[in-house]
Amino acid sequence: MMQVPIFIIGNWKSNKTINEAVVWFQDFHALWKKYPFNYQKVRIILCPGYIHLSTLKSLIELAHLPLILSAQNISPYANGAYTGEVSAEMLKNLVEYSLIGHSERRKYFHESVGNLSLKADQAKVNGIEPIFCVQDEKMQIPKNCKIIGYEPVWAIGTGKPDSPENASRVAGIIKSKSKDIKTVIYGGSVNAENISQYIHMSNIDGVLPGGASLTAKAFFSLSHELHK
Ligand code: PGA
Repeated sequence: MMQVPIFIIGNWKSNKTINEAVVWFQDFHALWKKYPFNYQKVRIILCPGYIHLSTLKSLIELAHLPLILSAQNISPYANGAYTGEVSAEMLKNLVEYSLIGHSERRKYFHESVGNLSLKADQAKVNGIEPIFCVQDEKMQIPKNCKIIGYEPVWAIGTGKPDSPENASRVAGIIKSKSKDIKTVIYGGSVNAENISQYIHMSNIDGVLPGGASLTAKAFFSLSHELHK
């Protein structure tokens, strides 16, 4: 039987210069060479800023590393006169996934339900899989979104994660909303110490760490933890 991989999705948010991103990659690569693991078991996705995507893609391909790139956001519009936006078509050969609707986007950039639905459509049309983030089980999810990130706002960056039991309960409710929803990821203060508690819960298919993705060592140890 084919093993269903656990998703580990690192979100760098607005962090890292080009040099810092390259150093992160070199550190990750060195760890990978020293402690290779079975990457059939995990799907390691990294969401760096747009400026890093092209460089990281080349480095990953060159080193044959099992890292998959994702955008942190995507324009609700197709190519055109939308200064400052990055369209799904611009991203389509760079990333397999895009986060959509992270709580920080909703809060600081006032992203509305309609707007998020357009973003999901743009991603889909261009072959990019949305990782649609919701902050609780009541939030609206656009049609055809298969991967959902459950990220309670109060757990993000606070060191106070949701309990694995409650996160699994919410993930179960989210899955019951649509047969399209196959995967629910938990995010909010996940680290190497607590990751196993989440991924062993029946409704949780992976984790979405922010802070714990910022150093290669912390991020690598998340995957490594699952192989002990
Ligand atoms: P955190 O962030 O792991 O730093 O809490 C999670 C997120 O916002 O995706």
